[in-house]
Amino acid sequence: MNGPDPPVLLAVESSCDETAVAVLQGFNNLRASVIGSQAVQHEETGGVVPEVASRLHLDVLPGLSKSAIKKSGIPLSQIAAFAATSGPGLAPALLIGLSYAKGLALGANRPFFPINHIEGHLLSPFFGEETIPEFLGLVVSGGHTLLVKVRRFGSYEVVGRTLDDAAGEAFDKAGKLLGLPYPAGALVDELAEHGNPLRFDLPRGMLQSGDHHFSFSGMKTAVRYLIEKGSITNDQDRADLCASFREAVVDVLVKKCIRAALDSRCNVVGASGGVSSNRLLRSRMETAAKDHGIQIRFAPEGLRTDNAAMIAYVAAHRLAAGHAGGLDADVEPSLHWENVG
Ligand code: KG4
Ligand code: ZN
Repeated sequence: MNGPDPPVLLAVESSCDETAVAVLQGFNNLRASVIGSQAVQHEETGGVVPEVASRLHLDVLPGLSKSAIKKSGIPLSQIAAFAATSGPGLAPALLIGLSYAKGLALGANRPFFPINHIEGHLLSPFFGEETIPEFLGLVVSGGHTLLVKVRRFGSYEVVGRTLDDAAGEAFDKAGKLLGLPYPAGALVDELAEHGNPLRFDLPRGMLQSGDHHFSFSGMKTAVRYLIEKGSITNDQDRADLCASFREAVVDVLVKKCIRAALDSRCNVVGASGGVSSNRLLRSRMETAAKDHGIQIRFAPEGLRTDNAAMIAYVAAHRLAAGHAGGLDADVEPSLHWENVG
């Protein structure tokens, strides 16, 4: 194949409310990564309306793609392969990114790789590395909360998942109840820094369930009751509630993740997704991992919330593993884990 060595990949991500394009050379040379967030447009509705997201992706994708190619310094003709998120996600939103990247691949006569969004998050703590070690992955995002045992690239076993809300979704819903703008996770985290985590005793869903699954909807309901009861009247109450809520979510995430790592005999944990930016989660995880002789790796900043670099990274592994790719891939809004690889 003519073109630069190591090969260059262009990936598109459009599964929810972020439109992103990345150009990656080899495994570690991220030549460009551009992200256009629709958060402002979705703030009004307090969440993402799929058709609105789809139209916004369509509006910005050509421009973002051009700017990523320009930034990368690699002409389109020198790109060895293309990739896009095929699922899971919102069907109308996925369709825009997938069709666009497929069109580029077809025009350039290069392979196309459909990529599982969760696999992108899952492997992002090892971004840049040529080999994926054996590890226990904690994916905590707005749409997913999963514990995945990774044996090597392409060999995954889900050992735990949320039975209701995702961790990020729980932060967003609690924040919404407090009148905070969407997505509220980072703001709840910020307010929590000034609050008393012991003020409200919120339920720790499924902490003692004996399996590795999660449930966050009880915590959110408890927040609603406290607000309806009139317990939250001033800024300090709000900060205390944020701190207590964060404490409950992090307590469950850390304890269950470490237990799953020990049960799966993994001495490396990789945490990813938007919620892996949470300050308390990071410090508690560091401490708990140290106590148990476990190495903790976090997805790098900029690669925690949705981005295309993580999609390109998975595609780079697929390309290096000799996968052929194909243009017949369709969107798979409820893509299952079992189909990854
Ligand atoms: O990974 P991501 O883009 O979501 C999906 O792919 O679904 O992450 C976004 C989520 C949102 O729910 C947001 O509120 C949450 O991550 N988030 C946080 C923090 N920063 C982002 N949640 C808690 N603490 C944070 N610091
Ligand atoms: Zn995501």
